[in-house]
Amino acid sequence: YVIGVDLGTSAVKVILMNEEGKVCDEASKAYPLIQEKSGYSEQNPTEWVEKTTAALKELVARFEGSVSNIEGISFSGQMHGLVLLDKNNEVLRNAILWNDTRTTEQCGQIYDILGEERLLQITKNPALEGFTLPKLLWVKQYEPETFEKSAVFMLPKDYLRYHMTGQIHSEYSDAAGTLLLNVAEKSWSEEVCELVGVDPQLCPPLVASHQFVGTLTEQFATETGLAATTKVFAGGADNACGAIGSGILSEGKTLCSIGTSGVVLSYEERNDRDFEGKVHYFNHGEEKAYYTMGVTLAAGYSLSWFKDTFAKNEDFETFLEGLENVPVGANGLLFTPYVVGERTPHADANIRASFIGMEASHERIDFARAVIEGITFSLNESIEIFRESGKKIDTIISIGGGAKNDTWLQIQADVFNATIVKLSSEQGPAVGAAMLAAYGSEWFESLQQCADVFTSEAKAYQPIPENVEKYQELFRIYKDVYVQTKGLNE
Ligand code: XUL
Repeated sequence: YVIGVDLGTSAVKVILMNEEGKVCDEASKAYPLIQEKSGYSEQNPTEWVEKTTAALKELVARFEGSVSNIEGISFSGQMHGLVLLDKNNEVLRNAILWNDTRTTEQCGQIYDILGEERLLQITKNPALEGFTLPKLLWVKQYEPETFEKSAVFMLPKDYLRYHMTGQIHSEYSDAAGTLLLNVAEKSWSEEVCELVGVDPQLCPPLVASHQFVGTLTEQFATETGLAATTKVFAGGADNACGAIGSGILSEGKTLCSIGTSGVVLSYEERNDRDFEGKVHYFNHGEEKAYYTMGVTLAAGYSLSWFKDTFAKNEDFETFLEGLENVPVGANGLLFTPYVVGERTPHADANIRASFIGMEASHERIDFARAVIEGITFSLNESIEIFRESGKKIDTIISIGGGAKNDTWLQIQADVFNATIVKLSSEQGPAVGAAMLAAYGSEWFESLQQCADVFTSEAKAYQPIPENVEKYQELFRIYKDVYVQTKGLNE
């Protein structure tokens, strides 16, 4: 057996998989976001540790075999979050997360110091509020005493792994989202560190995602019931693991993953294609590969915001009852999902969401459909960038919360004008983490071989031409809403 740990934004999920790639058991524990001011989004790393320990303990308690048969464990983690440790490896402050947008000023400083062209040459990515370096510079500027005490920075799942093993590492797929990595050379950029005033000593040693990094500490083994001999493998960024867990392991494969954020990502063999920074360009969890990706900041988050505001006590299934009966276009309602700003294509932390076209006869389910369509339009903006760059996108694998609902899967097919494939398990990142442990444990000769066993297609959704046409018209209006509402919050 192997375990995949998916350290997400709203919860940690742990899954137990066997050699046939079957998910034998799973456990999940939720934790809140700490949002002290508008635009702030933090979590306490200790909470990640406590909830992961509890989830693993639950999994082990139900496990009927000998725990020594659980050979390996690996991770998928929410990206970009800044964890700072002092010289005794104690956490110095709450982690500042990927969806925190306080760092517009620091992004400007990065451009002023490095220039856009050089930044793109080295890091392959633009300076965005969500990335790690702007957060580090924010702490340096506004909490200098904390910055002075910092001995190392870590990404969320790297901190969790450190707690479990006592070993400090990062790995390429997550390091790529810091703006401190030379993505093509796969090493921390001394040039960026020097120019922005970050001591390279703050950057943890780098390894590959499937690399063995140690075994569990006696204490962690005792707390969870796992064997101390369980091998721990580095793991990857959640999007890289989502790609692995969905078999996005060769050129031409595209993934749509809708969780708290939503992403459209595409496998890249090469590290020298030029997207002018319009989409992210990160190292894959498969050692030699890359992926490009567009991000909708509030995808599932827009829907849970809407549900929690207007129907707090309902579960999603009840909340979305009747969704299929609302016609394409939500009876004239249109939503833009900018409740916390937007990444691709606008990179605009200040824009806010809109409902357009309300009328007295609209019911709550019309609004819910408009929210879902709006999230899908936002993801379609990333697909449009890929298509304009010459990528052929006719089939997309869909995972995450957005792949749990049949109507939403059909909406994806119609908005994206592509065949949407649903896998037998929609939990890509956790499966990807388990696959890194399986491959690291040498069960397979390649991740592709592992994917052949661990993933399978369940159902395909074909675009319906009449709906495609309607959505193409609405998409034009959707794009205008950004332009027309841009000034509202400035
Ligand atoms: C990617 C991003 C999000 C997080 C969510 O750049 O910010 O998808 O990885 O965990």
